[in-house]
Amino acid sequence: MKIIAVINHKGGTGKTTSTLNIGAGLARANKKTLLIDIDPQSNLTEGLGLRDVKVSIYDSIKDDVALPIQNIAENLDLVPSSLDLLGAEIELVSRLGRETILKRLLKNVGDKYDYVLIDCAPALGMLTVNALVAADTVLIPLEAEYFAYRGIDRLVSIISDVRTHYNEGLTIGGVFITKINPRRVITEQITESIKKYFNDKLFDTSIRINVALVEAQLKGVDVFEYAPASNGAIDYANLTEEIIVKL
Ligand SMILES: Nc1ncnc2c1ncn2[C@@H]1O[C@H](COP(=O)(O)OP(=O)(O)O)[C@@H](O)[C@H]1O
Ligand SMILES: [Mg+2]
Repeated sequence: MKIIAVINHKGGTGKTTSTLNIGAGLARANKKTLLIDIDPQSNLTEGLGLRDVKVSIYDSIKDDVALPIQNIAENLDLVPSSLDLLGAEIELVSRLGRETILKRLLKNVGDKYDYVLIDCAPALGMLTVNALVAADTVLIPLEAEYFAYRGIDRLVSIISDVRTHYNEGLTIGGVFITKINPRRVITEQITESIKKYFNDKLFDTSIRINVALVEAQLKGVDVFEYAPASNGAIDYANLTEEIIVKL
């Protein structure tokens, strides 16, 4: 079982879109996959068509009860989030063992899955630390913009702190570029500078801007189901393949 935290301190870099579609890609490749939404905004939960969630990851964190796992499709399960989770950051401040809650909850799930993907909020608070403590490796989606990695030093230093104190084996599994417009001249320069920064951590596959990805999420389905021939489906299929090979 490989536990992967999808993380970036910035919003809108494609964390949720990537978690959803890589998860669907893995499930289609016959890998048993669990998605965990640990963002109070619940975009992943809604993007998979779930509304009015009654029991969410918040209940497990608060009351230390089993994760509410819901089946989404063949080989694909989800632990949904809810807006209640907004309160968790504050409620956790006085809790003993607050950094390891998700790790313990996942231990109780056992070894049922090939992959667990955790969709983090665009923040580096206690919920994200919980994801990093529970994870084996980290995937970082970066937007194809200048300064895409501005602030990434802080992310890298938190990863290194978590490694020191809680999770010796935590690695940066890879970085990939999202929302690429291949016709834009500066895209190549941006890609080059990201490559310089991350070296061999940068995946070969980048995700192009593609409206099918947005539309699929609004419909509550993955891009393979919504538009199997779209650039979004092609790119996420390639990225999934690369992840299976490299992680
Ligand atoms: N490759 C893409 N092409 C077009 N729109 C995208 C693409 N990836 C993400 N988006 C859209 O950009 C917005 C932010 O993406 P999202 O995955 O929610 O980012 P994050 O979870 O990092 O905040 C969403 O509206 C999403 O549908
Ligand atoms: Mg998100």
